[in-house]
Amino acid sequence: MCGIVGYVGPKRAEEILLSGLARLEYRGYDSAGVALLTPNGLRLIRQVGKISNLAQAVQEAGITGNLGIGHTRWATHGLPTEENAHPHCDCTGKIALVHNGIIENHRELREELLSRGHRFRSQTDTEVLVHLVEEEYRGDLVEAVRRAVARAVGAYAIAVVHVDHPQEIVAARLGSPLVAAATPDEGFLASDVPALLPYARAFYFLEEGEVAQILPGGLRVWDRHGRPKEVRLREVPWDPLSAEKAGFRHFMEKEIHEQPRAIADTLRSELSTPWEEGLSGLDLSPVEHICLVACGTSYHAALVAEYLWEPLLGLPVSAEIASEFRYKNPAVGEKTLVVAVSQSGETIDTLMAVRGAKAKGAQVIGVVNVVGSALAREAHAVFYTRAGLEIGVAATKTFTAQIAALELLGLWLARARGLLREEELRQAKERLSRAPRLVEEVLELAPQIEALAQKFYTYPNFLYLGRGLLYPLALEGALKLKEISYIHAEGYAAGEMKHGPIALIHEAMPVVVLYSAQELPEKVLSNMQEVRARRGILLVLADHVNPEVEELADHLLRLPPSSRELLPFTFTPALQLFAYHVARLKGTDVDQPRNLAKTVTVE
Ligand code: AGP
Repeated sequence: MCGIVGYVGPKRAEEILLSGLARLEYRGYDSAGVALLTPNGLRLIRQVGKISNLAQAVQEAGITGNLGIGHTRWATHGLPTEENAHPHCDCTGKIALVHNGIIENHRELREELLSRGHRFRSQTDTEVLVHLVEEEYRGDLVEAVRRAVARAVGAYAIAVVHVDHPQEIVAARLGSPLVAAATPDEGFLASDVPALLPYARAFYFLEEGEVAQILPGGLRVWDRHGRPKEVRLREVPWDPLSAEKAGFRHFMEKEIHEQPRAIADTLRSELSTPWEEGLSGLDLSPVEHICLVACGTSYHAALVAEYLWEPLLGLPVSAEIASEFRYKNPAVGEKTLVVAVSQSGETIDTLMAVRGAKAKGAQVIGVVNVVGSALAREAHAVFYTRAGLEIGVAATKTFTAQIAALELLGLWLARARGLLREEELRQAKERLSRAPRLVEEVLELAPQIEALAQKFYTYPNFLYLGRGLLYPLALEGALKLKEISYIHAEGYAAGEMKHGPIALIHEAMPVVVLYSAQELPEKVLSNMQEVRARRGILLVLADHVNPEVEELADHLLRLPPSSRELLPFTFTPALQLFAYHVARLKGTDVDQPRNLAKTVTVE
């Protein structure tokens, strides 16, 4: 994780670095720093805590420069202290470096560098890199960086500046993302596009093993073998305004309300694509098994697809947690289609799962939100979700957009396997196109959901129950609550409750039940009875209310009725709004919850 920004050009570098870091704060926010090239040499300013602390320190220092690098940290090695904050400097104080990733052989390198007289000031793995650059420097910064990173094992995205090179930033990446951009007299670098949206609309996404030189007005790039590469910039269609809150209290609240558009845009862009075109580049004839890989919220979207696809496609379909999948030596090969789901397209666990499956001959489809991300580049085919920029660390609009994309992809695969006729495909798409309106109807229930949050926000534990398609949504509802409100919440398959979690139920235990006419309503009613018999508090979200539900529920939220494949679009926004209002009432940091980062580029 961590976020990197670099700037060279005629403007005040510190302002661009600080605004870029603020837009990358979702990547990590325990400490931050900048290195600026001033007439008196390199000046380093670092602070523990959020970017606002750093901004104040920069203002108090009253320094300015036309070249600089900045960093916001999510600690891996070493506590979040000022000494461990980036940038780090070499022994001479002439070179500064920022890093995102983990250097796995840092201990050996540190020993070696210490024995040659280098002085270390931090406990980070990163600091070895700046001393390696110092060792390798003979007047050419690009060459020094290339030789330094060749000695490092692990993952890195780095930016390096040198006092004797006042017009250049040198960057390199392996395993962690970097994008660069240039205008006629400026050069920019960042971990992710949002940092640079106010300044550029076309970007170069560095490939694995590449080294780049960022200059005022231009970029030079070398591939992993040191050969110069032609730099082709890619337009990114995001609007800089999407990085503003637009009157909402938090980005999360705004993004929850953006879901109708995110889903409509995702469906619209894919609806206009003929299925043959969308699946071109893949050979589906040998496929006997589909494996969805993902993490966190994206895993829950994958699990929704498992429930929808298996009966639709008549094939074994399994959703796998990417960090587990890659190490269990999975039985995948040429007969496997891997569908990797990731908002960022940079989650290292998901990428490594994909690389492992590709090495065994599997074909890969990426379902990705970020254009040009690593997963989008590495998959054989890409389905883009059109959710736009998501800034809140908790995934909301990207989740429902993923489900919309996966539902459509399932229909394409069914058509490709001859299981749907063209007319049936058209009708199924037509049904799916009702999703944005359903989300709008649920968003209109926000005042009722807020009133429920008011009743529940002081409880320390929650259980979420659902069956069938509502089971992954119960998992997602529990994840949303725990990650932003720090309340312990468990999602469970309702039928599993009697195998253990039922022991947790007592008169002060809220149980959120997802109840639909579409998913085993009789069985779920029995599970509700079991909770009631143990005096648990039943908060029921129901799209179909009969007298029994009404009688059992202590609190009831009525959702609009829909067909089975549309359930994610009615239950999810209600669960998101409930978690949001609970967290808001508790006063937690909704958009940047403690210990989390939006893009997880470490294992
Ligand atoms: C969910 O709110 C979190 N942001 C997290 O679980 C996230 O879904 C996970 O880290 C996967 O990220 P990705 O979709 O970018 O791969």
